[in-house]
Amino acid sequence: MTMRILFVCLGNICRSPSAEGVFATLAADLDVELDSAGTSDWHVGEPPYDPMQKAARARGYDLSRLRARQFSAVDFDRFDLIIGMDADNLARIEALRPAGSDTTVAVFTDYAPEAGYDHVPDPYYTRDFDQTLDLVEQASRGLIATLSGQTEPQLQ
Ligand code: 4NP
Repeated sequence: MTMRILFVCLGNICRSPSAEGVFATLAADLDVELDSAGTSDWHVGEPPYDPMQKAARARGYDLSRLRARQFSAVDFDRFDLIIGMDADNLARIEALRPAGSDTTVAVFTDYAPEAGYDHVPDPYYTRDFDQTLDLVEQASRGLIATLSGQTEPQLQ
């Protein structure tokens, strides 16, 4: 059965489109449907931030066709798993949860406990786009392991 996964951050131009693009590549063998969204409407319709795209392209991930959109309550029905990048994302996602919805919401770093982060730092502010990609790659491998039913928490 297709697993529908939505990645969410604040602007939908750095972390969540990177998560979508990286996960799509690393999980190419899994039956998944992917999208990303922002809790804000600040960049709706825009492609991912240029420095983010460049850093991703250097690792073989093409984010150029993605466009930002805003997260909304209907996403709880459209997706099986909603993954935020930090606690603020999670609070804003949960604030829109429809009554009776039991859709799982998680922080992406939960899937990379070995990395030692409780959130994916926002490269729009840190300017460390490679740190974002390192964490996103680690968490993607952890999520793939979880979805594949492996007992090991990570693939290396
Ligand atoms: P993101 O990063 O949430 O990872 O897409 C940001 C992008 C833009 C802004 C903030 C965070 N902004 O303030 O425009």
